[in-house]
Amino acid sequence: MNIELEIRPFAEVECDALVVVAFEQETPQGPAADLAKELYDSGELSGKALEIAVLHHPAGLKAKRLVLAGGGKRERFESADLRKLAGAALRALKPKGARNIVLALDEPFRSDAFAAAAVEGALLADAEADRYKTDPKKNEKQVDRFAVLGGSQSALNYGRIVAESQNFSRSLANEPSNLLTPMRLAERAREMAAEQGLECEILDQDRMRHLGMGALLGVAQGSAEPPALIIVRYKPAAPGPSKDHLGLVGKGVTFDTGGISIKPAEGMEKMRYDMAGGAAVLGAMRAIAQLKPAIPVTALVPAVENMPGSRAQRPGDIVTTLAGKTVEVLNTDAEGRMILIDALTYAQRLGCTHLVDAATLTGAVVVALGAVNVGAFGNNEAFLNKLLSAAKTEGEKMWQLPLDEEYKEQLKSAFADLHNIGGRPAGSITAAMFLKDFVGDTPWIHLDIAGTAWLDDAKPYMAKGASGVGVRTFVKLAESW
Ligand code: BES
Ligand code: MN
Ligand code: ZN
Repeated sequence: MNIELEIRPFAEVECDALVVVAFEQETPQGPAADLAKELYDSGELSGKALEIAVLHHPAGLKAKRLVLAGGGKRERFESADLRKLAGAALRALKPKGARNIVLALDEPFRSDAFAAAAVEGALLADAEADRYKTDPKKNEKQVDRFAVLGGSQSALNYGRIVAESQNFSRSLANEPSNLLTPMRLAERAREMAAEQGLECEILDQDRMRHLGMGALLGVAQGSAEPPALIIVRYKPAAPGPSKDHLGLVGKGVTFDTGGISIKPAEGMEKMRYDMAGGAAVLGAMRAIAQLKPAIPVTALVPAVENMPGSRAQRPGDIVTTLAGKTVEVLNTDAEGRMILIDALTYAQRLGCTHLVDAATLTGAVVVALGAVNVGAFGNNEAFLNKLLSAAKTEGEKMWQLPLDEEYKEQLKSAFADLHNIGGRPAGSITAAMFLKDFVGDTPWIHLDIAGTAWLDDAKPYMAKGASGVGVRTFVKLAESW
């Protein structure tokens, strides 16, 4: 799908579908006002969010169809709403055979933030997880061109880079685990890095053993698939004045059976998205390579498969982490935190001054926040607020949860420095407390994306499957450093 800037006047735009935003409870405004009025009067259109009404052969326009897409209340309309609206319009029009779609923005929505969001919405909505469907007709209905009237070329470029990178992340997280093993994920990262001019280094099992990554290797040992620690580096050509170095760490469990503490069969197939955090940081690096922010960024993805093989670690095993602390593994299904602590320690050794991790870490965060908000934790309020404000502008909902010292009680082990689970109460918080123990004074943020990284059902603006949550926030964080 080509993304273009539309420069012809509204009435002159030739296309299959010309999309305008229709707001709730208002007399239609803008160039299509007369045409919209009839629809409002007849009750076919109310302007409520994501509603779509189509007019064929609109009088006075060169477009084949005029599409009125509901925007909800005008005074509450934000770029995040436009992102969804553009996506819903595309997903409604694509099956109808529209190949050339133009979205017309009206004042006061002709800003870069809105134009970029429109492009993102369209590209995110266009992506389908259908690469393993063999139906030869599946690509018959395609959108060739999506154009925005009322934006700037640079805003469209930003939106395209970010959305294509989010789609890259989604396609990784949608891959089945027989085809995306830890090594294969490492190869995909290496390919992406080569294409984008980033450095890539893969630490193999021997190297990790030599370094002493006992926590990560303990998880990996139950699988016939060898683990990998994927490291992708971006270095700005002209570094800024600050010494800051951002580290993005993403959980890369290519499949989580739970290990010896095995999960129930029901829903286990979803555990292929247990590398969505890793996919998010790799997607962010892809965009960062192109947008070239002033801050150096290093991504680390500990990639493992959590299996109950004959060499698997057992409940009660004690491992020594890269940081030198010992952990008693009370539950082998709490594997995400085990691989993350070694990666977080290594990120500090690589010189990262600020750390953000993203992980499908706990079922408890789904109980607490559902599929709406990412659970956000941090040891530095200023840094966390910076990330939360980036998330807000990008329309990625996140909600802060607490990290009081009292919760650490739940992680005290009788036999080692810590054990790896904190019991039923506050499960997402104790998981975050466990990570916190390994970052010291380095400003650090943990994002639990277990509830938000996967759509169980398609949305009007996005296909079922991986959502790519996190990518846009990470890119904005680096861009606005
Ligand atoms: N990958 C899971 C968390 C998860 C659950 C992700 C649901 C997506 C959807 C994680 O490794 C896990 O198994 N966590 C356990 C921790 C428990 C053993 C303390 C959980 O949440 O049950
Ligand atoms: Mn698990
Ligand atoms: Zn897991």
